[in-house]
Amino acid sequence: MSRTVHVDLDERSYEIRIGTGCEIASLREGAAGQRALIVSDAQVDAHYGARCEALLAGYGMKVRRAVVPAGEGTKDLKYVQELYERAVEAGLDRHATIVALGGGMVGDLAGFVAATYLRGVRFVQLPTTLLAMVDSSVGGKTGVNLKAGKNLVGAFYQPVEVVADLATLATLPDREYASGLAEVVKYGVIWDAALFRKLEEQVAGLTQRDLTVLEAIVARCCEIKAEVVAVDERDAGVRAILNFGHTLGHAVENVAHYDRWLHGEAVALGMVYAAELSRRETGFPDEDAKRLTRLLKDLGLPVHPGAGGFGGDWVALRAAMSTDKKSRQSVPRFVLAQKLGAVVFDHAVPEDVAAEAFGAVFG
Ligand SMILES: NC(=O)c1ccc[n+]([C@@H]2O[C@H](COP(=O)([O-])OP(=O)(O)OC[C@H]3O[C@@H](n4cnc5c(N)ncnc54)[C@H](O)[C@@H]3O)[C@@H](O)[C@H]2O)c1
Repeated sequence: MSRTVHVDLDERSYEIRIGTGCEIASLREGAAGQRALIVSDAQVDAHYGARCEALLAGYGMKVRRAVVPAGEGTKDLKYVQELYERAVEAGLDRHATIVALGGGMVGDLAGFVAATYLRGVRFVQLPTTLLAMVDSSVGGKTGVNLKAGKNLVGAFYQPVEVVADLATLATLPDREYASGLAEVVKYGVIWDAALFRKLEEQVAGLTQRDLTVLEAIVARCCEIKAEVVAVDERDAGVRAILNFGHTLGHAVENVAHYDRWLHGEAVALGMVYAAELSRRETGFPDEDAKRLTRLLKDLGLPVHPGAGGFGGDWVALRAAMSTDKKSRQSVPRFVLAQKLGAVVFDHAVPEDVAAEAFGAVFG
């Protein structure tokens, strides 16, 4: 069982394969004798590193594994340098392939190394988190963090193939899995009301990680991301809609110093806020806002920060939003919904509305 989604980017087009136990078609034929470096973090390597190495060796490739520590702190230039050294040691030449086996952290890091080592070598993404399957492995954004902020150094660099083996989700911790579901819900809001309805109907299958349910839903999310990326690969316009819930979400992560909320949890809180802004600014129906909050809750995501608060008040969150990459002259720009499946982007919200909406949902 598997599905394929095509990402249409002229000579940089590629396939995303979604299923269980998938082969890597781009390497299965014609890569015998070539070198591959599998980049993974320690947790993912312990589960899947040996199996991945055996798969590539079975294609006749000369394979090495490079293992970095798990955690966002590894998305750093220090590890870019370390991986360049591993690549040299492994004898990677211009016909070689770098394979990212892991979540978004590994994909972004290994992708940046693949984009820059020898001015670019072939890159394959094998995402193992739900977030990486539906979001970060698709679309070609790679990069690392600086002390000054997240993802400040990077490159647009498309993989030659993405293979999402859904069976790897079995070992993903519950919080990480739910965090990925937040991005899944986002696609329903920004693009596809029928997907949103399907998510509501299939909450049980989703929370139980039913592979048949997941295959259809992950594929639909990849189709949507592929469609958006195909018209705006370099993030100059409509790609901004993928940031629904992210304006406040990034600020929530930032004020809590990136150690309290997972990305998807912060995005869930950001979507609750964006829905309230949308109610006030773009006519988003009350009933749709309620459905969104209910679905997030049912999927195990936070819709309120709870007694511990955000780790910062509205003033701190508002200040963090001013420094967001998508802000202009310190004024945050929001993606707002008109109804489920339809959004506008680049919307500046009056200051009083922004503060009142925050009080209304989180006060
Ligand atoms: N490039 C993009 O377009 C894009 C989009 C969204 C997010 N991102 C980036 O993605 C990163 C977050 O990605 P993430 O949420 O996948 O986090 P992650 O890669 O840090 O993985 C989360 C945790 O899950 C573990 N893990 C991964 N797969 C596992 C599995 N199958 N079984 C058991 N444990 C597993 C990892 O070791 C890690 O501890 C951030 O750096 C973010 O900036 C990039």
